[in-house]
Amino acid sequence: MSAGAPLLDIAGLTLSLSDFDGTARILNGVDLAVHPGERVALVGESGCGKTLTARIVMGLLQARGARIEGRVRFEGDDLLALDARGWDRLRGRRLTMIFQDPVAALNPVFTVADQLAAVIGRGDHPRTRGAARAIARRALADVAIVDPDRVLDSYPFQLSGGLNQRVLIAMALVNRPALVLADEPGTALDVTVQAQTLALMRDLTDAAGAAVLLITHNLGVVRNFAQRVYVMYAGAIVEAAPVAELFRAPRHPYTQALFAAVPRLTGTALPVGIDGGIPDYRDPPPGCRFHPRCAYAEARCRAAPPVVTVAPGHQVVCVRPRETVDA
Ligand SMILES: Nc1ncnc2c1ncn2[C@@H]1O[C@H](COP(=O)(O)OP(=O)(O)OP(=O)(O)O)[C@@H](O)[C@H]1O
Ligand code: SF4
Ligand SMILES: [Mg+2]
Repeated sequence: MSAGAPLLDIAGLTLSLSDFDGTARILNGVDLAVHPGERVALVGESGCGKTLTARIVMGLLQARGARIEGRVRFEGDDLLALDARGWDRLRGRRLTMIFQDPVAALNPVFTVADQLAAVIGRGDHPRTRGAARAIARRALADVAIVDPDRVLDSYPFQLSGGLNQRVLIAMALVNRPALVLADEPGTALDVTVQAQTLALMRDLTDAAGAAVLLITHNLGVVRNFAQRVYVMYAGAIVEAAPVAELFRAPRHPYTQALFAAVPRLTGTALPVGIDGGIPDYRDPPPGCRFHPRCAYAEARCRAAPPVVTVAPGHQVVCVRPRETVDA
């Protein structure tokens, strides 16, 4: 799965945000790759920097005082140096995003037909009369909407959350992107609808050959959806592995704590229950940012830990990854 050039290649990505109160050093060297057609999950607790990473990839981080460094490449383009014309070529076409809250992501004053037509107009489709409506109808049928004409002529508030979520998936896929970023899709909805949403996304992206980077808190979702997973803690990737390998042998103390925090019966809980919280980004701990919470911390953890490959495709950023798994 990891052979060949990656579609998305993030290396050493750092982000600091400054305001009158000082500087928050949030992303601390993110390394992450997605290959063509691959389903990858990015998992970590609230506030670890998942959404900010996705917003940088989409060129949507317009915060004042933001300083971004490192490498973010997509299909050979340097996304940190892309001009407006470059973004016009990529965003909404080769690179799309599904946001967490379908109501907030759709415009309340336009019908679904209008909103889908605007997206379709940016894609590479036939421009004949009636073509946009036909493409929109097919796009909605593809996301298992049985009455596409009614949905097309509705405003978002007239539709259920689950239908709006399907509309968003249709919008994200209609221009046949190479990569879809999905930030907690469906978590604003109930768990059954969320599961349907993810199953649909999995089938459709598979059929279209599109890659997905799925952001989630939920290890159950990771197992069902992804082929490979990155575990993020306080602005950096701490472990990366094929999904089966991670579930069989998590090596990083933080990953192990995440697994320990998931109730066995439901598998749907958030990773609460790890003592302490994400550090203050204005004054983060030196070296391994997990060390104030880590049961295995020692003096050398106050310097940047090494990246250790413990099995094919399985990297752990820790001074003693092998020992902790057997401990
Ligand atoms: N515009 C901003 N200005 C200042 N701090 C921000 C801004 N956006 C995010 N942050 C902070 O950056 C950190 C990472 O935020 P981010 O939204 O990426 O987290 P996340 O991993 O997506 O969390 P969640 O799972 O809750 O969505 C958080 O501590 C957040 O408070
Ligand atoms: S580097 Fe040290 S503090 Fe960080 S996870 Fe590994 S053992 Fe714990
Ligand atoms: Mg988020």
